[in-house]
Amino acid sequence: MPVHPLLASRFSPLLFDPSWTVTEEDVEVLLDAARWAPSAGNSQPWAYFVARRDEPDHKRIVRHLARSSARWAPSASLLIVTIAHRYVEDTDWAYSDFADYDLGQSVAHLTLQAHAMDLACRQFRAFDLETLTTDLNPSPGWHIVSMIAVGRPAEDRPPSRDRRTTTDLRTAPWD
Ligand SMILES: Cc1cc2nc3c(=O)[nH]c(=O)nc-3n(C[C@H](O)[C@H](O)[C@H](O)COP(=O)(O)O)c2cc1C
Repeated sequence: MPVHPLLASRFSPLLFDPSWTVTEEDVEVLLDAARWAPSAGNSQPWAYFVARRDEPDHKRIVRHLARSSARWAPSASLLIVTIAHRYVEDTDWAYSDFADYDLGQSVAHLTLQAHAMDLACRQFRAFDLETLTTDLNPSPGWHIVSMIAVGRPAEDRPPSRDRRTTTDLRTAPWD
């Protein structure tokens, strides 16, 4: 049985349709998908700062993009900042040892939901973490991890994508 078409056909575009808009209802569905992800002890250690292209918060995020992502990310319909709950407020005790891991699973849910809605996501780290953190000022214990650009792709999926083989996955890094 081949991999499900939703997984096989997903890709991360670098070109988005600059005229495509997503509705507030679309955003709600994407976040609804994100919240159904599994997490350690059901800790749900994630938060999402969301800005559609026509919203004032969009300009606020765009200011912090790196030169590379500033070339393509602003034309996506939506920018999302992903935030993990790593520590208990004002302590160095882990809120969850799996905070970033769980956030990643939640983002994967959002990504596939977007693809099912004929949208696409490109996750990225090409932004100024320090200035964005100063600007958004997440609550104590919460840390910005990544961004996601979401929109209607303006390019076709590449004919082939590079991946390690399943054999490679089953080959040591163990004794
Ligand atoms: C945590 C994370 C950070 C990423 N950072 C960047 C980035 O800074 N710039 C970029 O163009 N793509 C970035 N990507 C996208 C990856 O390059 C892309 O997912 C990978 O090449 C596989 O391609 P595919 O998603 O089309 O299968 C990032 C992806 C992830 C998951």
